[in-house]
Amino acid sequence: MITKPTIDRIMEATDIVEVIGEFVQLKKRGANYVGLSPFANERTPSFTVSPAKGIFKDFSSGKGGSAVTFLMELEKFTYPEALKWLAKKYGIEVEETVENKEDREEDNRRESLMIVSGYAAKFFHESLLDTEEGQNIGLSYFKERGFTNETIRKFELGYSPDQWEAFSAQAVKEGYQEEFLVESGLSVKRDNGSLYDRYRGRVMFPIHSFTGRVIAFGGRTLKTDKNVPKYVNSPESEIYHKSNILYGLYFAKKAIREQDNCYLVEGYADVLSVHQAGIENVVASSGTSLTVEQVKLISRFTKNITILYDGDAAGIKASLRGLDLILEEGLNVKVVLFPDGHDPDSYVRKMGTAAFKKHIDEKKKDFILFKTDILLKEAGNDPIKKADIIRDVVESIAKIPDSIKASVFIKECSHIMQIDERALLSELNKMRLAKAKKGEQQQQPRPVPDEPQFFDEPQEKKIKESDTQEKEIVRLLLLYGNRMIDWDGIANTYIGPFMIAELSDVEFDQPACKQFVDIYREELEKGVLPEEQQFIHYPDKEIVDLVVTSIATKYMLSENWYEMHKILVTDETANMKATILGAIFHLKKHKVAKILENLRGELQKATSDADQDILLNQYMHMKKVEKHISDYLGSVILK
Ligand code: UTP
Ligand code: MN
Repeated sequence: MITKPTIDRIMEATDIVEVIGEFVQLKKRGANYVGLSPFANERTPSFTVSPAKGIFKDFSSGKGGSAVTFLMELEKFTYPEALKWLAKKYGIEVEETVENKEDREEDNRRESLMIVSGYAAKFFHESLLDTEEGQNIGLSYFKERGFTNETIRKFELGYSPDQWEAFSAQAVKEGYQEEFLVESGLSVKRDNGSLYDRYRGRVMFPIHSFTGRVIAFGGRTLKTDKNVPKYVNSPESEIYHKSNILYGLYFAKKAIREQDNCYLVEGYADVLSVHQAGIENVVASSGTSLTVEQVKLISRFTKNITILYDGDAAGIKASLRGLDLILEEGLNVKVVLFPDGHDPDSYVRKMGTAAFKKHIDEKKKDFILFKTDILLKEAGNDPIKKADIIRDVVESIAKIPDSIKASVFIKECSHIMQIDERALLSELNKMRLAKAKKGEQQQQPRPVPDEPQFFDEPQEKKIKESDTQEKEIVRLLLLYGNRMIDWDGIANTYIGPFMIAELSDVEFDQPACKQFVDIYREELEKGVLPEEQQFIHYPDKEIVDLVVTSIATKYMLSENWYEMHKILVTDETANMKATILGAIFHLKKHKVAKILENLRGELQKATSDADQDILLNQYMHMKKVEKHISDYLGSVILK
């Protein structure tokens, strides 16, 4: 864990305008800076940074927070990663508490493995560019395949000399430990204890981690001998878990975010060629079928995946089932086929970027419809096979968490398959129900209504209303919590503790609001009156989000907006009693109304007289409370 003093030092040094300025072009406007949102496509800048507060707010996407949350949001860093990034930028030494000796050792081992891998990448890269053998064999091969110097440099492609010990001997000579050379798979240990090179005479594709460090390699043979494996890949190690790595992601993440789409291809060569053609949002699963971890990795940057297949029918059919897991993660999947014999690599080189893009645009098909098509073609007129297909397709649709999206697919599939929509829907609901029963621990999507139907509006609206009221409490605590109460009867008390005490009997529904109030209360119990800044730098993104949204509206909206709403803002402080008590009692009133509603429901269900009696008593009591609150709101608070 990074120590508190280090975090404080980082926060002190951090200039939010400078940090965000590395990613977004900012212009000064009044006390703030504005720029185009990096999270949404917009023409007029709504992205605002307040250096005074140390916060940003993006009015297009609704995102907001500190410099740390900005990095977490944009670069998908974890909290410690973001802190370390800032520490590096501002030259601050990071102090970490060592959890225990084993953790420290593990960290050291991982670091050693990365250092060895980084060294190897450099060795192979130099031997490709600077040795005669490398140039004649490796480099000429890459050139023949059309890779430019820039691509070779960017992806650190390399060549491993065709000798038994070229790499291992050099690495040992330079002091790299045998243990790590062997564990990383770069060297293999002979029975007599000496080391030899694993990748002799292969061209090398380093595999980079999410943050750009080399963690593994794929080495391709240049021989056509069928008995020689085409690729030799690094074994699994402490730093390389194949199932959560995507080849090329480090170089693609920016483009994936910008394009809001990720192209998924099969091989190293495909990534390089497509990237080189200027389509940089491309990654490869490296020949294996996609894993959940990989899909989650992509979904940090975009919810849209487009799979680029080479046109081998058997391969496609085999992979159809695997793609359901992308649907399950709530992502949109499109599929593009290439003409027989072509893969993305060969196709983009043959046709050029423009024609390649055009092909994708014209041929891309939604996965569900693609699957339906393929299966239907295969089944022909066989009715039994057709029934299987229906089940198969609906099973895929059932994986889509968004029920509205699912119902759109049901409609389209019913059209393609010429089957009554209602038959498909009832099949779908059966599957969802079965699934819900099986895994109660996970929250299941609600079934799609048999008849097209819109959301139950009043219910939604009610939830929204109570949400706003809870957020209003948070906003007032933030803005006025450390002001003195200036109204009758109460002296020498701050608004914050007063509000917290008044709300002690209220259960907050929104997790972030509840957490905020809990933190606030805990701080008070420690004798601290919480400050806005403290929450802005809180590690929990939800809290930061809530806090920034609450204060941003007042401090950061354009001057125009401020003018327009000035009245509202001044009113609010002119009568603090009405503002504070109003917020508290509106929330209370709402909670009471909810309790009453529940009681009414229970009353209807109650069977015994005794039960009814108890419930009725409770009901009457709550009714009185409600009346109290209403009277209070009416008399004391001018609303
Ligand atoms: P491909 O055979 O399509 O490789 O396998 P490629 O990258 O397109 O190579 P070229 O175009 O023939 O040079 C796709 C991916 O499957 C993995 C590799 O990650 C490869 O990029 N693979 C393939 C292996 O790991 N081992 C193999 O023996 C073959
Ligand atoms: Mn290929």
